[in-house]
Amino acid sequence: MVQRVWKLLDILEETSRFFAARGLENARLQAELLLAAVLDIKRLDLYLQFERPLHTEEVDVYRDYVRQRVQRVPVQYILGATAFRELELTVTPAVLIPRPETEVLVDVALELLPTGGRALDLCCGSGAIALSLKRELAEVAVVATDISQAALAVARANGASCELEIEWLSGDLFAAVEGDFDLVVSNPPYVKSGDLDRLEPEVRDHEPRLALDGGADGLDCYRRIAHQASDHIRPGGYLLLEVGDGQSAEVEKLLAEVGRFAEVETKPDLNEVPRVVVARASST
Ligand SMILES: C[S@@+](CC[C@H](N)C(=O)[O-])C[C@H]1O[C@@H](n2cnc3c(N)ncnc32)[C@H](O)[C@@H]1O
Repeated sequence: MVQRVWKLLDILEETSRFFAARGLENARLQAELLLAAVLDIKRLDLYLQFERPLHTEEVDVYRDYVRQRVQRVPVQYILGATAFRELELTVTPAVLIPRPETEVLVDVALELLPTGGRALDLCCGSGAIALSLKRELAEVAVVATDISQAALAVARANGASCELEIEWLSGDLFAAVEGDFDLVVSNPPYVKSGDLDRLEPEVRDHEPRLALDGGADGLDCYRRIAHQASDHIRPGGYLLLEVGDGQSAEVEKLLAEVGRFAEVETKPDLNEVPRVVVARASST
């Protein structure tokens, strides 16, 4: 049987219809992102090549990507990569896909971290925060830690491919950490256990539970970090915590109750949602 030769525009249109029928949002965009990756071209360059005939091997790879996407595998896991600030990072299902909100956490950290300072990224996942601090601030020393060995393997590989030197540590929160820091930053798991099953299938079925599950009220990690952090922060240094929607007041309260932070405030993300709790360690 003679196999059909697909033209780029035809396969894009068919895939868009297929995605839409399966309830995927932004169906055309998703079809384009996957096809551009298969052909190793920029997405907008697809528009210059609508009549291009596809090789059988290209169609086979694309069909595999499409099959994964309708099983709700996130595009970033299918392609094994995502962009975060200035970096191109490898992502696998061992790590949370870094989110745009977390770029705001990095912005705040860059404002507060002194040149030549020492920073800790707690719960580092793919290493997105640690690597961005190292890339964007001169002479900073960065330590990063995570409880997941599988996540740390991805983070280490990202450090190597970005040619950025980070001290990667494996442990439960501060367990493996020595010395003190000018700034401790963390985006810990913060979804309430009871809400996990209501998350989007892409998140619920494919991102690591360990990266999401924040315990019954979502605050397990914040509670522990609040009690342990000041032992690892220099007087006048900072603790920065990304929080989920509606959690900032509770996290601010936890930090105030510890009595070792002089100032506690929350900064908004780009959608004006309170997102980054900033606590300054007392000077004495
Ligand atoms: C929400 S993800 C954040 C990943 C990354 N920092 C980011 O912003 O993309 C949380 C990370 O915390 C790690 N984690 C969960 N519990 C932990 C614990 N008790 N100690 C250290 N890391 C933990 C998970 O393995 C996961 O990589």
